[in-house]
Amino acid sequence: MDAAEGKRRAAAAALAEVQAGMRLGIGTGSTAEAFIHLLAVRVRDEGLRVVGVPTSERTAALCRDLGVPLTTLDELPELDLTIDGADEIDGALRLVKGGGGALLREKIVAASSARMIVIADGSKTVEALGAFPLPIEINPFGAVATRLQIEKAASRLGLNGPLALRRRDDRPFVTDGGHHILDASFGRIPDPEALSASLHAVPGVVEHGLFIGMATAAVIARGEDIEVRGA
Ligand code: A5P
Repeated sequence: MDAAEGKRRAAAAALAEVQAGMRLGIGTGSTAEAFIHLLAVRVRDEGLRVVGVPTSERTAALCRDLGVPLTTLDELPELDLTIDGADEIDGALRLVKGGGGALLREKIVAASSARMIVIADGSKTVEALGAFPLPIEINPFGAVATRLQIEKAASRLGLNGPLALRRRDDRPFVTDGGHHILDASFGRIPDPEALSASLHAVPGVVEHGLFIGMATAAVIARGEDIEVRGA
């Protein structure tokens, strides 16, 4: 089974958790998009009544195209369930996210949700986080100084990999919030909690892609099987 089919199967399994009347956080990325397509079918064909808060402009546009009703966190600051993808998932349901550049809104939405279900194909599960470069969203002001502070903070934890400014079309990639992203190739991250705290202590860091204590469950497609972690 290819990765796209695994993503679709994980999305379909998670869709079973969506009930009428729910206030949903709707993630970003190819797996989340598989979920949005399936959700839209239920909205259209079954008249399923839900409302979603999108985690990116890209997700908002797709939801609008497919007729999934949207609102904002300002209108609905408490959500029932967020469904989103991930770049890495470890055994403690800790995640790396932000490969698609939406980590800030994804984290705000997940933090506003009573539950977060991560959907993924089996390639996303890892023993330890860090093989996927960690996205760190920074304010463009003082970016060189912020990068230096991040390097020092990581180095104090024994993490010394390079930081690459994410680019698109030969320009720095700009997030929905108007920020830049450094992709940090630290390699294995033995203590994600410590790294999270260190990164948050750097003033120019807006957010980072370590999601700790946020996912309540993961639905992972492995071949013909669906593995569910958490509740
Ligand atoms: C978006 O910013 C990310 O956090 C995505 O959730 C993550 O990159 C997973 O993307 P795919 O579902 O496309 O693999």
